Amino acid sequence: MATQKLLLLPGDGIGVEVMAEVRRLIAFLNKSGLASFETEEDLVGGSAYDAHGKAISEDAMKRAQEADAVMFGAVGGPKWADVPYEARPEAGLLRLRKDLGLFANLRPAVCYPALADASSLKRELVEGLDIMIVRELTGGVYFGEPKEIVTLENGQKRAVDTQVYTTHEIERIARVAFDLAKVRKGLLHSSEKHNVMKSGVLWKQVVTSVHKAEYPELKLEHILADNCGMQLVRTPKQFDVIVCDNLFGDMLSDVAAMLTGSLGMLPSASLGAADARTGKRKAMYEPVHGSAPDIAGKGLANPIATLASFGMALRYSFGLSEAADRLDAAIADVLGEGLRTKDIAAPGQNAVSTSDMGGAVIKAMERAR
Ligand code: NAI
Ligand code: MG
Repeated sequence: MATQKLLLLPGDGIGVEVMAEVRRLIAFLNKSGLASFETEEDLVGGSAYDAHGKAISEDAMKRAQEADAVMFGAVGGPKWADVPYEARPEAGLLRLRKDLGLFANLRPAVCYPALADASSLKRELVEGLDIMIVRELTGGVYFGEPKEIVTLENGQKRAVDTQVYTTHEIERIARVAFDLAKVRKGLLHSSEKHNVMKSGVLWKQVVTSVHKAEYPELKLEHILADNCGMQLVRTPKQFDVIVCDNLFGDMLSDVAAMLTGSLGMLPSASLGAADARTGKRKAMYEPVHGSAPDIAGKGLANPIATLASFGMALRYSFGLSEAADRLDAAIADVLGEGLRTKDIAAPGQNAVSTSDMGGAVIKAMERAR
């Protein structure tokens, strides 16, 4: 088995605590022969600022560029509220996303049967839910120029944001989404607003031609973004993979994620372009949550979001889908047995610590061998 290089960037706050569980999981996978990982670690965010006054060092950036994948914990917190804007902890995360060219953000929304009652929807609507939102992350209205607020002659102000997409940008995100649909249920919904936006017209055209030329065996549906939001809370299980631009993806992925319960449960992946020679993608995996300064250092954090993010790395960066399946099953088992960290515990229920939860997941994986 080829050895894979993984860079761990725990960050600060609970990032450090949840990454400790990933480290234990990697040790288990290596020992059991399920994988062969070589890990490096570096500082990012508040821990990097405390050590050398920058949110991420050039050396850490270089390691991130060279790694087969990056696991990111979380950064930020009131301790660094007064540091200069460019050195604030969150700047380290943005730099990584930008410099690694991570244009595809994958946010799964999976509802574990044991947590179906924690959803904002009825159990029967979400039980067994497993959808994947693919959000374009480096283009669109968040980046398009002009982007400004100008004062008009009449004294009023005028604010401009510009939605820009090129054929190339739409093609590459469409391919990521089709590739995912291919190994899932074979259904892709492409969500835009071609009825009122030129970028939506191009989006629909380009996704349609990528489908015809490269993925004719898959099913493609076009859906207007507003209707998509409605359908997500009406009958979410009709979806498999949804692809959308940066803005709609920001909203739709938050909506979909919250159908499934706690912030402490939600993983994500951000992927870059495939290398022309090796076909490998730059990739970074991280929980959706932040550094949770309110509970940091107390052993209360739920490590499942980060463990499941590592599961996405197994699947999408390393082709270890068997290990990934087993990890997903272990998480479902542990939840099924009723084990709960505080964020997902019922009122009055006893909660376990971060390391008890991590340890239980690894034990459940061992049992499944
Ligand atoms: P947060 O996600 O850190 O916390 C929100 C709430 O959820 C808190 O009550 C927290 O205790 C709880 N929570 C979060 N993750 C949890 C987990 N794994 N287990 C149990 N409970 C959990 O968001 P907040 O409080 O808005 O931001 C705190 C800091 O984190 C800020 O500095 C913010 O900028 C930063 N942040 C960083 C992110 C990242 O590193 N990717 C993402 C979001 C926020
Ligand atoms: Mg958002």
